[in-house]
Amino acid sequence: MSSKILMVCLGNICRSPLAEGIMRAKLSKDFIVDSAGTGGWHAGELPDKRSISTAKNRGLDITSQRARQFKISDFNTFDYIYVMDNSNYKDVMALAPNEEVKSKVKLILNELFPNENVDVPDPYYGGQDGFENVFNMLNEACDVIAGKLKR
Ligand code: 4NP
Repeated sequence: MSSKILMVCLGNICRSPLAEGIMRAKLSKDFIVDSAGTGGWHAGELPDKRSISTAKNRGLDITSQRARQFKISDFNTFDYIYVMDNSNYKDVMALAPNEEVKSKVKLILNELFPNENVDVPDPYYGGQDGFENVFNMLNEACDVIAGKLKR
């Protein structure tokens, strides 16, 4: 059975657009992959130029993505909600309407480092290096997720 996966960060312009693009490239078209930000300041915008170029260098085009804010109905729409850092986790969990949907929310790097609660660092205020680092982390985590979903 296919699944619906949502990637969540703060602005939905740096990390989660990369996570969405990477995850989608590893799964068949039967899966639905989307991303959102806990904040709405960048709604409607393209991914950050540095995310676009990092993805492009690795063969992924993420320019059809537009930022949007996470909404309560996402808890019902999606089967898995992967958040990028502990702050996103806290913000998303605070919006959860019931206990059942809370179990859908996971820190994405716990797929690589179980129970360690490691953040995908926010690359917004850094240079291109930070984006390459984020891409590599997300690529490994999405390999693990894709492996589980295809089983
Ligand atoms: P993201 O990065 O959460 O990975 O999209 C950020 C983008 C923008 C801002 C913060 C983080 N901002 O404060 O505008």
